Amino acid sequence: MSAEPSEFATLKFRDKEVVLPVVTGTEGEKGLDITGLRKSTGLVALDPGFVNTASCYSQITYIDGEKGILRYRGIPIEELVQKVMFVDVAYLLVHGELPDEETRREFSSQLNTNSLIHEDMRHFFDHFPKGSHPMHILSTMINAMAAFYPNVDIKSMADNIDQSCARVISIVRTMAAFAYKKSIGEPVVYPRYDLSYCANFLNMMFDSPVKPYQIRPEIVRLLNILFIIHADHEQNCSTSAVRVIGSAQVNLYATISAGISALSGPLHGGANQAVIEMLRTIQEDGDINKFIRMAKDKNNPFRLMGFGHRVYKTYDPRAAIVRGECEKFFHQYKYSDPLLDVARKVEEIALTDPYFIERHLYPNVDFYTGILYRAIGIPENMFTVMFALARLPGWVAHWREMIGDSTKLVRPRQIYSGRGLRHISPPDAGD
Ligand code: SDX
Repeated sequence: MSAEPSEFATLKFRDKEVVLPVVTGTEGEKGLDITGLRKSTGLVALDPGFVNTASCYSQITYIDGEKGILRYRGIPIEELVQKVMFVDVAYLLVHGELPDEETRREFSSQLNTNSLIHEDMRHFFDHFPKGSHPMHILSTMINAMAAFYPNVDIKSMADNIDQSCARVISIVRTMAAFAYKKSIGEPVVYPRYDLSYCANFLNMMFDSPVKPYQIRPEIVRLLNILFIIHADHEQNCSTSAVRVIGSAQVNLYATISAGISALSGPLHGGANQAVIEMLRTIQEDGDINKFIRMAKDKNNPFRLMGFGHRVYKTYDPRAAIVRGECEKFFHQYKYSDPLLDVARKVEEIALTDPYFIERHLYPNVDFYTGILYRAIGIPENMFTVMFALARLPGWVAHWREMIGDSTKLVRPRQIYSGRGLRHISPPDAGD
């Protein structure tokens, strides 16, 4: 999949002058194609963190960081959260179109059929130390799936993408709920065929033999919205990890396990939990301006968690959706959370401060999501697990797209800056 070059750039270096093609994306974004650079000039491009580098063509998600636009397969995120469910979005990301009624029934049936984990895997949970972070349990368990589910060769998985996708999305959701139940010493709750994807997850998380869980439609709706806004985000750190690992033709389970591990980092998916911890610290301290000063101090490692983004240089459209849902839900159900008041105040101060304005630092997806997870009753150590569950269809979609493109093995070059040639000094004659 590639775009025909529409323009060209000339690079002059010493006695060489090379013409490099410039390709244009669907929305007019321009890319300098340097696939022939080293061969024609001997040069490599240096770009730590790939801030200026497009790693691939992709048809899955479009982000405009300057305008705050996010679309899955061309559909704006704002429309998706209003009109469809997470399961529809999962299908859309993988297949490129929303499912019709018949297809949706089939996909839902596959999700149900694939929602049980192998009974022998259940005993794995008994051997994790108490207090293990659910993200570590999840990445371990999904990696182990390759041992329990044969035919993990990538061709058969890609050819049976619906079953592979359903198995990943559904079983991992069950694993997440089981990990939580184990962490609180309660018996696990099995998935039910009669419940929707999100309702099933809530029931597996909160139902108990002695205290039946009442599934509230408004909570199911909130969870659908949270899952939809996290479902994909083009070449973010964890999706890039999936593409890198997957390019070695590793099976889908191990590839997704790598995505989960990357997402667990506090600069990436782990930020939603870090935001709540930060807001609680600010609330207990009471001096918001002190923390704003710390965030601006280069000598202080403190950062305003949930603020800033590699791509969005304006308000993250997902943060706007979540903030709006917080306000609506809190008002409608007379719910309050002091941390929302702290978050609003932090945002108000930061968005009028030159440091944040000059660096285009705005609330990102993680700034308000923890507030909504608290309202749903999700424990803090499960926040990043929620992000991982939601991101599964995005990772599967990118894995499938990459396999379909017969992608080359990902292996970047480097600029060596170590010691020049030297030899082990011969032992002294006297030794
Ligand atoms: C996610 O990529 C994705 O799409 C990710 C994601 C997804 O859906 O997959 O959107 C999910 O990971 C959201 C981001 C969650 N992380 C956080 O909220 C952690 C806090 N944010 C920062 O760590 C930071 O903003 C990053 C890591 C998100 C982005 O950092 P960049 O792009 O590498 O930018 P940078 O570190 O070079 O910062 C540029 C400047 C620096 O100041 P100067 O050196 O120019 O003076 O902005 C400053 C930074 O110090 N800065 C911050 C800041 N973020 C950037 N200063 C204070 N607080 C912050 N949060």
